[in-house]
Amino acid sequence: MKYGFFDDANKEYVITSPKTPFPWINYLGNKDFFGLISNTAGGYTFYKDAKFRRLTRYRYNNVPVDMGGRYYYLKDEDCTWNPTFKPCQTELDSYECRHGLSYSRFLSSKNGLSSNLLCFIPLDYMGEVHLLKLKNESNQTKKVKLFSFAEWCLWNAEDDMTNFQRNLSTGEVEVEGSALYHKTEYKERRNHYAFFSVNTKINGFDTDRESFIGMHNGFDKPQAVENGKATDSIAHGWSPIASHYIEVELKAGEEKEFVFVLGYVENKDEEKWASKGIINKTKAKAMMAQFDTTQKVEAAFANLQNYWSNLLDKFQLDSQESELNRMVSIWNQYQCMVTFNMSRSASFFESGIGRGMGFRDSNQDIIGFVHQIPEQARERILDIAATQFEDGGCYHQYQPLTKMGNHALGGDFNDDPLWLILSVSSYIKETGDFAILDEMVPFDNDESKAQSLFTHLKVSFSHVINNLGPHQLPLIGRADWNDCLNLNCFSTNPNESFQTTGNKKGRTAESIMIAGLFVVYGKEFIKLCKQIGKREEAQEASLHVKAMEKSVKEHAWDGEWFLRAYDYYGKKVGSNENKEGKIFIESQGWCTMAEIGKEEGLMKKSLDSVKERLDTPYGIVLNNPAFTEYKIEYGEISTYPAGYKENAGIFCHNNPWVIIGETLLGRGDQAWDYFRKICPSYLEEISDLHKVEPYVYCQMVAGKDAFKPGEGKNSWLTGTASWNFYTISQYILGIQPDYDGLKIDPCIPSDWKEYSVRRQFRGAMYEIKVLNPSGINKGIKSIELDGKALNGNILPILTSGTHQVKVILG
Ligand code: BGC
Ligand code: NOJ
Repeated sequence: MKYGFFDDANKEYVITSPKTPFPWINYLGNKDFFGLISNTAGGYTFYKDAKFRRLTRYRYNNVPVDMGGRYYYLKDEDCTWNPTFKPCQTELDSYECRHGLSYSRFLSSKNGLSSNLLCFIPLDYMGEVHLLKLKNESNQTKKVKLFSFAEWCLWNAEDDMTNFQRNLSTGEVEVEGSALYHKTEYKERRNHYAFFSVNTKINGFDTDRESFIGMHNGFDKPQAVENGKATDSIAHGWSPIASHYIEVELKAGEEKEFVFVLGYVENKDEEKWASKGIINKTKAKAMMAQFDTTQKVEAAFANLQNYWSNLLDKFQLDSQESELNRMVSIWNQYQCMVTFNMSRSASFFESGIGRGMGFRDSNQDIIGFVHQIPEQARERILDIAATQFEDGGCYHQYQPLTKMGNHALGGDFNDDPLWLILSVSSYIKETGDFAILDEMVPFDNDESKAQSLFTHLKVSFSHVINNLGPHQLPLIGRADWNDCLNLNCFSTNPNESFQTTGNKKGRTAESIMIAGLFVVYGKEFIKLCKQIGKREEAQEASLHVKAMEKSVKEHAWDGEWFLRAYDYYGKKVGSNENKEGKIFIESQGWCTMAEIGKEEGLMKKSLDSVKERLDTPYGIVLNNPAFTEYKIEYGEISTYPAGYKENAGIFCHNNPWVIIGETLLGRGDQAWDYFRKICPSYLEEISDLHKVEPYVYCQMVAGKDAFKPGEGKNSWLTGTASWNFYTISQYILGIQPDYDGLKIDPCIPSDWKEYSVRRQFRGAMYEIKVLNPSGINKGIKSIELDGKALNGNILPILTSGTHQVKVILG
């Protein structure tokens, strides 16, 4: 069953029922100021950091799910309803939520009154703008009472949910005209406040939650709305909110428009006050003036749409598969932007307080978005690299606001450093900006320890070879990419974290996934060294890469597939000898991406084993058989019920690694079959089962051992977004940015006759048409560039103009 449809022309997903199987959300904001918004307007707003600088309060784990957001109440005679359905849940005569690129629009109506609510964050603006249009579609005058509602978070979202003994006494507000200000803690250590304003005269307001809602009511029945009148309350502690009350008279056929702004202001110390105790509102007023008319809002909205069209225009696909076109040309790229901005911090599955920017996560996110905003990718790379230690290890996470590494979590996730080679090489291939390698970047955020970014890459490489175990394979540390394979943890205490606990300190547990990763990014490092004339470094590095390939072949081949690891005791993990967890996806993915043992047939055998043992109708599971009991020597992986998360769930992030492996073998039909299975637009029809949004990837789909195979969870913030974009664009459609040009090397299903890609690269636009007359998977017969035959398969860097490319497979 579907809950809406794709409107490709408008780049929107249109949700036609508010009762989706789970809140289907969207993100507002492109840089620094963000909002999460569900299809019933639930969610919250924050500046830069969802933990430290949260503007509005949101309660995760609420009942019913998704209560709290930016709400408008319309009281029309005896009927009270919300343009967003929630929180009143009054049945509407019509409802549509149009999630678009960085905006959401709600179209609804009830009893002859219709509402059109547009929510977005204009470019370079620190505020959410809500344009609300109310129209009387009846033939009689209507007197409608309009109430707005936002609940303030006391800035630090974690403290806000825990430190009640203090928080219930600190709340402070100010009211001036139609603007309601939130200034808790402004008097002392904060230099920021928030406001909620409207561009019209108001008939009343509330800033104290209980005065508005009533002590015993819920969001669905605020007392003030029931009474049809605001109380003009001024909050002193307790829970400050912002609610406007506006009496709206609409003649038959008349429409009225309101612009609400939920904004954020920072003031320098010396500019904080207008007078004693009264905040300086100059900047807030300037922000309100920016959007005091509908025309100004519509102009900013057009800018935002333009911004997105330009970004997306850099990569557009036209193929016989409309589901694929909309993912590649719109939604997958959009999700990459969101993961780039949020990392794994704030979604409806990530509370915004637990996890900042992950070192490995953010490096991987870059590969999905670097073609769109290379300048921001550059800045991000330098921020991430600054959280590395001198020995190449690094903080596993850092906070976006402070850019400082998270001490509590620390480092020792031994895959982390290698992902920096991925992000930097991808960035340079896209931009040609080798100068980034000379940027001086601190270690551990200490400027006195700054070294060139190239040195950071070097220590990333050597961190692996300085940390080899008994089989000359990389030591795993706390975990590699799989956070839950904790081979040194040995935890018996439910109050300790699997990620930070290391009860055994041995140097024995080794990861074959890191071995494969090292071969892939070791080769990348060598290639980069050669590009910049560092021959000696390249030569030395290739000795280590060769040695690693040898160790894998000698110690990590199980007969039919690659082992996953050696545990603390030196026993095989992911071997046919094991009862459970005989085979794992990660090492098959990385060792085949590294093409280890290609000549000997290992690559093919490994991928055939994946097909035989891990493939399911909904994607490839992480391991098989699932663990059914806690294995203390494996850690968290064996704690999840069978078929969920890292215990044999379909962990979508790693499916593309196998898909890339398949394309390297030239098996385009198999690669496509895997790709399609987890691609959300193809799952729209099974939304009841899949549960989460059909326009974005989710981290995990329940695997074959689960209670409900095919049920998705943890949508939005997942490395799946960037890996799938990378895989489809570079390995299936075969358009690969490289140092010397745009390499063409498709591997497609044999029944594809043709497809076209528009790809901007280094200042030029390439319009590439790929024809497959003989129905093959891979192999190029000829390429023409602007009508002339091209030698080889690398389109030269042309720096400007639009160029026609014709590729014939054969
Ligand atoms: C989750 C992982 C996550 C880890 C660290 C685990 O419980 O399953 O996906 O990476 O926690 O937060
Ligand atoms: C989610 C984490 O953000 C990511 O870093 C990790 O690799 C996966 N979980 C797999 O455990």
